[in-house]
Amino acid sequence: MVDNPIIVALDLPTAEEAVRMAQRVAPHVGAFKVGLGLLHGPGPGTIDALVRLGRPVFVDAKLHDIPSQVEAAADKLGRHGARWVTAHVSGGAAMLEAACAGLDRGSGGAQAGILGVSVLTSLAEADLHRIGIQRTPGQLVGKMAKVAETAGCEGLVCSPLEINVVRQAAPSLARVTPGIRNEASGDDQARVATASDAMDRGATYLVVGRPITRAPSPETAAEKILAEISSR
Ligand code: C5P
Repeated sequence: MVDNPIIVALDLPTAEEAVRMAQRVAPHVGAFKVGLGLLHGPGPGTIDALVRLGRPVFVDAKLHDIPSQVEAAADKLGRHGARWVTAHVSGGAAMLEAACAGLDRGSGGAQAGILGVSVLTSLAEADLHRIGIQRTPGQLVGKMAKVAETAGCEGLVCSPLEINVVRQAAPSLARVTPGIRNEASGDDQARVATASDAMDRGATYLVVGRPITRAPSPETAAEKILAEISSR
């Protein structure tokens, strides 16, 4: 198991709030995640501010475009110090290869890797059918895992329910798992599990946002999740 597998999703409105939250929970988490709200609002300077706190920064840019554009974006994010950058596997193998090449160049020798985004944890099977995909999330994630591995990705973002499929299809990939919930939360996540259950299923990293950032005490919430997975 990596030292501390918790990646806290800092989905807050401003860079200042994200940095303040990062400082509060830093003793209990392994890495910080910057998502679309921060990247498109305060901007990529948020990455630099978080890198200065001395933890790996996961840039959840969810890149999906023609390969040359994705390569350029991954290169830029690498220059800001991103340890991981996400790219949608549905963009295809050539796009993922371009993302890997761009990040490699931009990070200038620092450790960095692309994580493929498989099927969003907010989507259920019925949502896939509505957009014309007549497969279960598990079937689709299995196919995507193979493509991501061959293209040179470091890992795959998948729901807790598909970790095993990824292990079987592409054993070299790190399994990065959002959708962590300790009770029915009534929010927009559909395919969820508890932190210990996700670790038992073989997650390498857990991405946890609102259960920490919206808790009355984010420090205590992060500490509890870490204690829960450490005592397994
Ligand atoms: O607040 P919550 O714990 O639901 O946050 C989960 C985080 O993981 C969000 O930042 C979301 O963008 C991200 N994520 C996800 N499903 C994916 C990929 C990323 O929920 N497949």
